[in-house]
Amino acid sequence: MKKNPVIPFALIAVLGILAMVILSVQGLNQQEEIANGGGEEVALDPEAIAQNCIGCHGGDLEGVEGSGPSLQKIGSKYSEEEINEIIMNGIEGTAMPGGLVSSEEAQVLAEWLAQKQ
Ligand code: HEC
Repeated sequence: MKKNPVIPFALIAVLGILAMVILSVQGLNQQEEIANGGGEEVALDPEAIAQNCIGCHGGDLEGVEGSGPSLQKIGSKYSEEEINEIIMNGIEGTAMPGGLVSSEEAQVLAEWLAQKQ
């Protein structure tokens, strides 16, 4: 019987395709893991969320002259609910804007700020 010279190549091709399929399925799993685990942690870290505020309130929330007041002792001025309300709606008639973060992030941020006495 004459050997078909294409067979070894065909075998290698099939192995290669199998390897591709296996690796991409593995990659998809990892992608989901990263999306679920990693993302959430960053989004719910209050100091990371506070990055939305530092433009006006300063890098350590120490306040910026003519821009935004200090938030370092904000917990002794407002309750957690009041801070949440300010974050969500801003302060009418001032440069303090509402809606900078999602309501979930506002909750985490308010809880964290309310502890600053
Ligand atoms: C565009 C600038 C700007 C940004 C961004 C900003 N703020 Fe403000 N914020 C202000 C200003 C200006 C005031 C003062 C308003 C006033 O005159 O009462 C203020 C006031 C506040 C107050 C009340 C302070 C007090 O002593 O009465 C809180 C609480 C506050 N901001 C929280 C935040 C948080 C949390 C963020 C981020 C999610 C944020 N702000 C982002 C400008 C800003």
